[in-house]
Amino acid sequence: MNVGGSGGKVVVWAPAKINLFLEILFRRDDGYHELETLMTAINVFDTLYFAADPSAELRLTVDHSYGYRARERAFRSPLGKVPVGNDNTVFRAVELLQRRAGVNSGAKMHLVKRIPTAAGLGGASSDAAAALLAANIGWDLGWSRPRLTALAAELGSDVPFFLFGRAAICSGRGEVVHPVESIGSLSFVVVRPAEGLRTEQVYANCQPPPKPFSIASAWEGTSRQRAVDVSRSLFNRLQPAAADLSPSIERLRNEFHRVDVLGHQMSGSGTSYFGVCRHARHAERIARRLRARRLGYVIRASSSGSGLHVQRLTCQN
Ligand code: C5P
Repeated sequence: MNVGGSGGKVVVWAPAKINLFLEILFRRDDGYHELETLMTAINVFDTLYFAADPSAELRLTVDHSYGYRARERAFRSPLGKVPVGNDNTVFRAVELLQRRAGVNSGAKMHLVKRIPTAAGLGGASSDAAAALLAANIGWDLGWSRPRLTALAAELGSDVPFFLFGRAAICSGRGEVVHPVESIGSLSFVVVRPAEGLRTEQVYANCQPPPKPFSIASAWEGTSRQRAVDVSRSLFNRLQPAAADLSPSIERLRNEFHRVDVLGHQMSGSGTSYFGVCRHARHAERIARRLRARRLGYVIRASSSGSGLHVQRLTCQN
């Protein structure tokens, strides 16, 4: 996540993520699932503009990246349904921080969406993390990263990941983040089919395995930073549960099987599906072939140039 700020004005670029490995350990008494996952941020970004405002009011507008203003409560696009009111995670995050920090100021915020929604790409979570960082800087709160992380975990299981680096092993319900060394510069093609899936629906449909796979061997492969080793370590326990609910997953699996990618699987709780490519030009070729198949919204992405980067801008006057 890249952050640039000047006075009460801050811009944050909030990345998407994909899950290279995701195993469910068991279902907890609180209804959540204990899991182990290896995630990497990818260079597909939403952009959040934050300006502190002397009134206590919080205002959020949302634009689709193709440029039209979202006037309805929710709007549809190839990216999926985007909430534009106070149920947007940006609004919820900033409102929570405002309340907990006892802030009297408000904010004018504008979110430009590029990350598909209900797709297992973490867009809403990344936007929430971006909002916490932006408000912390814009309102000059000086909250520490651990304090913001605790707030992030209240907002959603994946939100803390986005406050950290580019790649991490996450455990607990996803909110316990162990950043890892760089996984190298990997090239991906990501497809978001026309329909999305709700996270809770997919988890509810998933059966924890009697003998969960260990994340250690997946990390061993991934840490070699070679696309071919990363591909061999791919795993997602939620994929059969999502495939039960959406026919798109099986269709995407078959289509990716036919093109020449090193490995492929669903990301998070779906519905987006990705393939690991040899390099950026290879990803470009694969993306072109998949676009011609009209499977949904096709994105080329890389693990390099993504992740959290904080830059404070100072006014020169
Ligand atoms: O934490 P978050 O709000 O993103 O989770 C959305 C839903 O996904 C939860 O209400 C829960 O049903 C499910 N979930 C789960 N186990 C996890 C994470 C999410 O069951 N580790």
